[in-house]
Amino acid sequence: MASAQHDTAELSARLSEHMNGYLYTASLYTVTRANVADKLAEGPLTPMQLGESTGLNGPHLRRLMRYLATREVFREDAEGRFHLTPMAELLREGVPGSLRDSFLMMGEDLYWKPIAKLHETVRSGHTAFDDIFGAQFFPYLQSQPELASLFNRGAAGFSRLWAQSVADTYPFPVGSKVVDVGGGTGGLLRAVLAANPTVTGVLYDQESVIPEHQLDTPELEGRWSAQAGDFFQTVPQGADYYLLKSVLHDWSDEDCLRILKAVRSGMRKGSKLLVVDPVIPPGNEPDASKTIDVMMMVVHDGKERTQGEFTDILAKGGFKVARVLPTDSLMSIVEAEVA
Ligand SMILES: C[S@@+](CC[C@H](N)C(=O)[O-])C[C@H]1O[C@@H](n2cnc3c(N)ncnc32)[C@H](O)[C@@H]1O
Repeated sequence: MASAQHDTAELSARLSEHMNGYLYTASLYTVTRANVADKLAEGPLTPMQLGESTGLNGPHLRRLMRYLATREVFREDAEGRFHLTPMAELLREGVPGSLRDSFLMMGEDLYWKPIAKLHETVRSGHTAFDDIFGAQFFPYLQSQPELASLFNRGAAGFSRLWAQSVADTYPFPVGSKVVDVGGGTGGLLRAVLAANPTVTGVLYDQESVIPEHQLDTPELEGRWSAQAGDFFQTVPQGADYYLLKSVLHDWSDEDCLRILKAVRSGMRKGSKLLVVDPVIPPGNEPDASKTIDVMMMVVHDGKERTQGEFTDILAKGGFKVARVLPTDSLMSIVEAEVA
């Protein structure tokens, strides 16, 4: 009996931590927005000093930092000064692997509001986003240029985490031509072209996104172009490879079929499609794909997919899966050919 009581107390403490999980997200957003990590890059500071330089209330900031220090984000020393940690380093602007823009994006109402209505989404089977904002995610961003720009930078932050492993994994043949469909600001295409000096590429995305691309570097000179368009209608014609990275997961099966139809009509005989997304593993083990899947449900009406679901949706779209290549990141590469 004593041990059952002990178990309940321990389980209840652990469960209560999860109950407050959203405070963790909000705390990370708050310190990121105030550039706290950048302020600490020069050396440790007291919460009062940090408060003065960030415009935040010092005593309140201390409580936030004490909480974050329990999660390896910042560290308090015996003098009450806070230090950067390796994890907090990634909240700085412009450092390799920086997630600053991604945190700023995820802390926006764009995400908070639908997440607060997750229960509605699960009840109705439709994303709450569309009801709250009156349009689907990407069409809505078209009417919000500042948010759209924040999204592009935030998505690029995530892309930096994964692009190199994708570029290092796939053996693009010498001289091949690649179109990155819905390629965002071009992080993946840049990594692919940098890793494969004979490959050329086209970045293809919406008109509003193309001007923010990051391809204009001396290393890639003469090997890329950028083209605006709607991937539900058409894609650049006749390339050897069509990449769809973090695209299909944004959309329902129906919408994916529209995208796949447009991509197929751009392909020539022998072209290959590379879908780059997480593949949800079976079983109960934690995997980031299972978390992101819930986000896709509530914000985009999209989903992460199992290997079977990819095989199925690609077959319905007129493709057959040739192989699935895992990478050393969250992403897998599903290689498909026209069936
Ligand atoms: C989640 S982002 C992924 C960007 C990039 N592939 C990456 O991995 O970072 C989805 C991309 O799809 C683009 N997109 C959405 N609707 C589109 C459309 N109708 N036509 C072309 N691109 C579109 C967005 O602008 C955005 O860049």
